[in-house]
Amino acid sequence: MAKRNILITGGAGFIGSHVVKLFVSKYPDYSIYNLDKLTYAGNLENLRDIEDKPNYKFIHGDICDNALLEENFKKYGFDSVIHLAAESHVDRSIHDPQQFVLTNVIGTLNLLRCAQNWWGNSPGENLFYHISTDEVYGSLGPSGLFSETTPYDPKSPYSASKASSDHFVRAYGNTFNLPILISNCSNNYGPFQFPEKLIPLTINNIIEKKPIPIYGKGENIRDWLYVADHANAIDLVFHKGAIGETYNIGADNEWTNLSLVELICQKMDAKLDRRAGESGGLIQFVTDRAGHDLRYAIDAAKIKTELNWQKSYSFEQGIDLTIDWYLSNHEWLDRVKSGEYRKYYQGMYKDLTQ
Ligand code: NAD
Ligand code: DAU
Repeated sequence: MAKRNILITGGAGFIGSHVVKLFVSKYPDYSIYNLDKLTYAGNLENLRDIEDKPNYKFIHGDICDNALLEENFKKYGFDSVIHLAAESHVDRSIHDPQQFVLTNVIGTLNLLRCAQNWWGNSPGENLFYHISTDEVYGSLGPSGLFSETTPYDPKSPYSASKASSDHFVRAYGNTFNLPILISNCSNNYGPFQFPEKLIPLTINNIIEKKPIPIYGKGENIRDWLYVADHANAIDLVFHKGAIGETYNIGADNEWTNLSLVELICQKMDAKLDRRAGESGGLIQFVTDRAGHDLRYAIDAAKIKTELNWQKSYSFEQGIDLTIDWYLSNHEWLDRVKSGEYRKYYQGMYKDLTQ
């Protein structure tokens, strides 16, 4: 296998840490450089398993810092980029959209400019692979699926910033022949997800016997993919994707928020030896998210037929693995909940009756 020098951005976050661990372990001949600013969402503990591997290096830095990017491209000669670093939480984008533009739009543009500067005249084996979201397509009604040709219609500041970054990536492919790839994935869940997102927040609040906040009536629908299946899809797209293409990744696994939370409650009552129905009693309906997208669902036919991708984890397996991981990793959960999380949680969920 050819040697590669791969820059992975955002590798100390949820999905990025799974991708870094996969690449470092599966490809010992590749050098993997993980550049991360370590915001509230970045946590080097996520990478304990591989941090001492000879083919792994951590670079602490901000993708908004052009000089730092130039210095590291020069020093390590990256031949490819897998770009995951982002502000990723919709609720935070409603409270502070500016940071989403800085990281998701300007940060992505900085990386593109840098890659273009370094690879410009001999794109050869290079690749700029941008990790994006299904939210760029907007919101579906009760039927229909997002395909790669669905027009962009982002509806939150987060999805608008991701849509903008996707457009810049395609513009660099078109204008400068930068070898680019994009994938747009549905909702991920699994170990190491920060407990501001629905599934780990629910698990955490059940453990702590705290109210579980459900926005509106809990009727919104998401398609949930186990994070290891997303990491495998990223591996496949990176190695086999056709330059310039977009691949949608999804799980054919739609749940209303209420049914999903109820399922987690039932499972956790059994796992924690609690009375059936005890955790369900924690559910509280709270003010809806502003501009809340009703439904996301993905048509993943292209990646399945062209790249032969399929998910390996059923939802039953994935959700059990996830709950069990959080139950046996109290320390991780306790540490990430200290400090910034407490402040965020108190501000975000002040309506909850404790
Ligand atoms: P996350 O919030 O868990 O992690 C983001 C990481 O990016 C963190 O480690 C953070 O420190 C880092 N980061 C943030 N700003 C940075 C900056 N300016 N410079 C360098 N590093 C910075 O996010 P996630 O859920 O793992 O998502 C990763 C990527 O996948 C994002 O691009 C997101 O849009 C996309 N995505 C996420 C999902 C999902 O369900 N979580 C689904 C589809 C696509
Ligand atoms: O679809 C992919 C996207 O999925 C990613 O691009 C985003 O980075 C990721 O955060 C996720 O966005 P969502 O907004 O769908 O995920 P979240 O876990 O925040 O919310 C899932 C659903 O649950 C959504 O309909 C809002 C609802 N919700 C969420 C929280 C945090 C609640 O009802 N209560 C809550 O407390």
